[in-house]
Amino acid sequence: RIPVICIDGPTASGKGTLAAELASRLGYHLLDSGALYRLVGLAAEREGLSTTEADLREPAHAERLGRLAAGLDVRFTPGKTWLEGEDVTEALRAEPAGMAASRVSAVPQVRAALVDLQLQMRHLPGLVADGRDMGTVIFPGAPLKIYLTASAEQRAQRRHKQLISKGIPAILDDLLADLKARDARDMNRAHAPLKPAEDAVLLDNSELDIEQSVQFVLNRWHG
Ligand code: C5P
Repeated sequence: RIPVICIDGPTASGKGTLAAELASRLGYHLLDSGALYRLVGLAAEREGLSTTEADLREPAHAERLGRLAAGLDVRFTPGKTWLEGEDVTEALRAEPAGMAASRVSAVPQVRAALVDLQLQMRHLPGLVADGRDMGTVIFPGAPLKIYLTASAEQRAQRRHKQLISKGIPAILDDLLADLKARDARDMNRAHAPLKPAEDAVLLDNSELDIEQSVQFVLNRWHG
């Protein structure tokens, strides 16, 4: 059996950083499932398909988004992501893609369309998968599931620091409000809501640095 470590948790909790570091140390593959939802958001925008919550409630529109997700022309190369042959690495990380992802990820047809793509990421020697439903829906049999959290204020501050360091202007209060809206949407949606798997280990990293979080997981992995 191919080993899988799941890292789930709310937005900006540091899942991506932790998952990437674990994958690199263990020599495992990495599945950034959020990137898939961001890609759907971006692809919709490029196709001129609306991603407003009102439009997404229309069954015909939800079907359309599901087809878009199923036919996503995406390619991953080291450090880069390509959508229809175009380098979208930067656009993918920007706030609008994140907000669009948060809306389209509530559409059941979109989630269903991305299941196979995610399961196919399981390759030897192993996989570190980060997202919202890795442990609950996509890899329920995974031997190690981490539910990573930090306070909303901590998460907003981290994201603020990250953006400013990249020279991207950001307002802390706006980031906090966005983040809370995203948490609410992730936790309250009917399909695959964000919640810890029953057998998940909770890790609050509010007071931990990255190395301490990495060690926390590795200690549980090596036994
Ligand atoms: O993790 P990231 O911020 O890149 O994810 C973008 C959005 O995609 C999240 O706000 C969440 O709503 C959605 N998502 C999801 N299920 C996942 C990963 C991400 O619904 N497994």
